Amino acid sequence: MPPRDPNSQKIIDIVVNKGNGVKGLVDTGIETVPDLYILPTHERLEPNMVLPHESIPVIDVSDWDDPVVTKSICEAAGKWGFFQITNHGVPLGVLHAVKEAAHRFFGLPNEERNKYWAGNSPTDTVALKTSFAPQQEAVLEWRDSLSFRCGPQDLESFPFWPPVCRDEVVKYMKSAEPVIRKLLEVLLKGLNVKEIDKAREDALMTAPVVYFNYYPRCPNPDLTAGVLPHSDITTISLLLQDDNGGFYVRATDGESWIHVPPIDGALVINVGDVLQIMSNDRYKSIEHRVVANGSKDRVSVPIFMNPRADAILGPLPEVLESGEQPLYKEVVYSDYFKYHLSKKHEGKKTMEFARIRLSCQLFSSI
Ligand code: OGA
Ligand code: NI
Repeated sequence: MPPRDPNSQKIIDIVVNKGNGVKGLVDTGIETVPDLYILPTHERLEPNMVLPHESIPVIDVSDWDDPVVTKSICEAAGKWGFFQITNHGVPLGVLHAVKEAAHRFFGLPNEERNKYWAGNSPTDTVALKTSFAPQQEAVLEWRDSLSFRCGPQDLESFPFWPPVCRDEVVKYMKSAEPVIRKLLEVLLKGLNVKEIDKAREDALMTAPVVYFNYYPRCPNPDLTAGVLPHSDITTISLLLQDDNGGFYVRATDGESWIHVPPIDGALVINVGDVLQIMSNDRYKSIEHRVVANGSKDRVSVPIFMNPRADAILGPLPEVLESGEQPLYKEVVYSDYFKYHLSKKHEGKKTMEFARIRLSCQLFSSI
């Protein structure tokens, strides 16, 4: 990356090196967005790129055993890669409380917040960051995030988590766990997997991470990115958004975008790269993005369900049973993860890491 101009370097210093985040920058009273946050025009989301009448399905999951429900879930995962669920059993109070907890954390003074800055935090299970990969990005994303690794062993470090929000995170995670398990059961059944045995469960759903994403009010939301287009490198993701909107997913035409309207009490579900690889492309890990908000501070609270670091990913034998060619080679999840983190958000580029190129396929079939 070319060297930054002196003003951008000054901002990097405040936001990244001193650990104040974009929230700390906003608190200095800026009235316009600095150059460091201004996207080239071709990367901005223009209103004519949004399909006004398209939407992703909203599925009532009060009866997980209803074949209409399971069919809708599998179809949505194959067509849109995204859907919203209602009546999932996570109490409304738990959802509201965790969003409030996120506001409370980001409302702390800089010096309280940045105690948890990645690398400096009292525990490596909690990390505050800004943007996605600021050292690799020419333009930064208008977002800070606080992540909580929530696997059973991670919870042993709970006493070191920020007291203003830790109870709410654990409650949210615990109530959402059965929903994630059900979703994976349904989706894997749709791939002919009869039961998720311990080995599969271990590989696919051992490492949940809860995020607080915080998008402070942005003076020039049209020029900036909340989050640039990317797909999640998870098995499956569950997103709780607030009522400010701004969340878009790639339409089935592969070019336009669809807005995902906030529905009180609903959770947005999406297939991650891991499930796309495992399903040999039957389920789609679809790009999505966030546009910053011009009038309010926006929060979202996703849960990313990830495989174990040493899990080996590849199309499932059940999917290839009938002689289908694998579209992906086997890769170790931690290598996939490292590759993803080595670059800025670039749509679905991470998947290239595991995809078998056509020339290789021809070669191997000779
Ligand atoms: C993410 C993401 C969306 C949002 O963190 O991967 O896509 O609404 N977030 O914050
Ligand atoms: Ni995402």
